[in-house]
Amino acid sequence: MKIKNICCIGAGYVGGPSMAVIAYKCPNIQINVVDINRERIKQWNQKDLSKLPIFEPGLDKIIEKCRGVNLHFSTDIEKNIANADMIFISVNTPTKTEGYGAGLAIDLKWVEASARKISEFGTGETIVVEKSTLPVKTAQTIKEILELSSKNSSNNKIFHVLSNPEFLAEGTAINDLINPARILIGGNHAKSIKSLSNIYSNWIDKDKIITTNLWSSELSKLIANAFLAQRVSSINSVSAICESTGANIQDVALAVGKDHRIGEYFLNAGPGFGGSCFKKDILNLVYICNHYGLREVSQYWEQIININDWQKKRISKLIVQKLFGTISGKKIAIFGFAFKANTNDTRESPAISISNELLREGANLSFYDPKVNSLQIEKELNLENHKSEITKLSNKWSFHSDKYESTIKADALIILTDADEFKCLDWGKISKNMRAPAWIFDTKGFCNTTEIQKFGLKLWTIGIGEF
Ligand code: NAD
Ligand code: UGA
Repeated sequence: MKIKNICCIGAGYVGGPSMAVIAYKCPNIQINVVDINRERIKQWNQKDLSKLPIFEPGLDKIIEKCRGVNLHFSTDIEKNIANADMIFISVNTPTKTEGYGAGLAIDLKWVEASARKISEFGTGETIVVEKSTLPVKTAQTIKEILELSSKNSSNNKIFHVLSNPEFLAEGTAINDLINPARILIGGNHAKSIKSLSNIYSNWIDKDKIITTNLWSSELSKLIANAFLAQRVSSINSVSAICESTGANIQDVALAVGKDHRIGEYFLNAGPGFGGSCFKKDILNLVYICNHYGLREVSQYWEQIININDWQKKRISKLIVQKLFGTISGKKIAIFGFAFKANTNDTRESPAISISNELLREGANLSFYDPKVNSLQIEKELNLENHKSEITKLSNKWSFHSDKYESTIKADALIILTDADEFKCLDWGKISKNMRAPAWIFDTKGFCNTTEIQKFGLKLWTIGIGEF
């Protein structure tokens, strides 16, 4: 089946960039990205490309080239479903907050709503592709929903379900989509697998395209994220050992990572992993293991999240300790609020829990982030406060678009992301702005230690400790 029209349900961090790259590489395919969120679609259609709803290096250039040509963003879900030969489901799949499985299982309501729309408005033969990260066996649920309504309809509808998880990382999404390590397609309908594989083979080597059954594909995505997060928790646990023993985390990571069997990537210690996926995917894995009675396995994976939570708490606690045991009324500047550099995404950012701990201890915080605005920070801090039923602390923090301004009269500066611009800070200026004894907490371990010390600043670095 030759694919001419694609519809993607969900115009988020995955739907937007992944469809933009398919449009860019396959000019003969018309792609409609649809969403129930009108504001988001409006932003995707903005003339001013600096105002797209998500920031990804290189995305604006692709949007400029393809939008209005073979890439379209709209809220007309029904019409675009009806016209499509292939439909990607790229909707959000957060952790359930209430009911059975709350706090662990995935809330599939957006996936189910999408499947229902497809079954109602799909026409003829349609390939339905799971792009969202889903619990293993979800394809069965989707199939059941699709088949039920196709039986009730007079129109001859045929649906084939494939799993095609996305492995892009935020901040490098465009490069990851153009040069992926692999493409994974799970399914049991050979012709549909071929149709999807043909799309990717327009720019990706055939030997990078792996095909499996549905369950292996769905599970592999969860396991890939669990393995990545496991490495971060492993190296973060080692950062604490280094600080206690005098070993240096950077030396240890280098020495360990040089072994090809271990590999050098994902060995950067930090303030804990954030992002919308690692935590929710591991929680989901824990839930699945429990469902199948694999208690020891679930406990094993759960420990990755426990270490991550502990790392964030341990950092806030040591900041208080270094500042003479109290931060009440003290000003602390925070550089980096996004969950990592080069993105405006703040979901599950370690900055949220660290900031809230410091606010609870009575500190005044002043934030700077190259991509995140004050409204976004307010939303995240209030969400967290609401969760823990702590009174609103909004009058205790401020936002600055000039990073140096945020350090004026600060007792401490915490660096929480490795944004490029934090690599070459004017430490002379910062030291003049701050109140002595001024502390720098480098939770990513990438600042220029000699420069910092040269200006009389006190320094703590992850996995090394106090200088
Ligand atoms: P997102 O929240 O940014 O985007 C999801 C979009 O789907 C939202 O705009 C929402 O309005 C829309 N939506 C929800 N229900 C809808 C419906 N019924 N009809 C139309 N639109 C609907 O989420 P995301 O970060 O793009 O993630 C999507 C999926 O991809 C998740 O399963 C996630 O785990 C997975 N994933 C994310 C990343 C990432 O880097 N963010 C990477 C790989 C995989
Ligand atoms: C991650 C995976 O890398 C992607 O392959 C996957 O598709 C995606 O999740 C997903 O399913 O959502 P992402 O969360 O965008 O991508 O970013 P990562 O680069 O993986 O970083 C995740 C977190 O781990 C960040 O907070 C980052 O700072 C932290 N991290 C990463 C470290 O602390 N140390 C490292 O060495 C690497």
